[in-house]
Amino acid sequence: MLVVLKESAKEVGREAARIVASSLRANPKSVLGLATGSTPLGMYEELIALHKSTGLDFSQATSFNLDEYLGLAPDDPQSFHYFMHSNFFSKVNFAADKIHIPDGAFRKDYSAYCEQYERAIRSAGGIDLQILGIGRNGHIGFNEPNSSLASRTRLKELTQETIEDNKRFFPQGAEIPECAITMGIGTILDARRILILATGKSKAASVAKAIEGPISSSVSASALQLHPDVTFIIDEDAAYGLTQRDYYRRVLELTKKYTPEKLT
Ligand code: GLP
Repeated sequence: MLVVLKESAKEVGREAARIVASSLRANPKSVLGLATGSTPLGMYEELIALHKSTGLDFSQATSFNLDEYLGLAPDDPQSFHYFMHSNFFSKVNFAADKIHIPDGAFRKDYSAYCEQYERAIRSAGGIDLQILGIGRNGHIGFNEPNSSLASRTRLKELTQETIEDNKRFFPQGAEIPECAITMGIGTILDARRILILATGKSKAASVAKAIEGPISSSVSASALQLHPDVTFIIDEDAAYGLTQRDYYRRVLELTKKYTPEKLT
């Protein structure tokens, strides 16, 4: 596990975008696993800037989003569909038929629908680079505490904490969805490479548990310890609870010296 410590949230976004851009340049047909939330916004902004200034090309790439709220139609301003289109897809040259986001408006036979999402990922050749944020309770995607570490795409009941955390994105008094469709932890662990971003003090406890705590379904992100190619990119505030910060800096320096290809 590589832990990349950055001074600010802006630097986190810039570093994540640099890695996405370099994967895309190496393989224009990359399959990207994408995340929503406030954390990856800086990365999307930076990718848009690279598209405009350097012509970074998304036209052959494929994407699969992690999750979507149940009951929200794609044109609902609070849906993750809307978030992805307004913050990213509409500003770069992604091909519409290569974008995949779970359909939150879907209302019957969820397991068949979720299996179909899994099949689509497999037929695209699997995810090359998965981007993740982390919830205050350690969730990745919407894999709330107690999710099976082997879980696949499915309907998931949201915790009260997540509902409270995400209230800020909804108009006052609006009904907040109580479930979501999310890739499972097993689905996420199948990605060839994983980047997980975290910024701000509110994430310090979950980041520390994910990186230095035991692997446990109580903290979904701790399952990433099982994956051979995970990079945490975190700012100083989110790194606050880590006990081995100096060692992570040393690992990064030595990686630059001996195995710089791991950082591209
Ligand atoms: C939601 C999403 C997660 C995201 C998390 C953190 O619950 N399902 O994918 O990582 O929020 O969001 P934020 O980055 O806004 O803190």
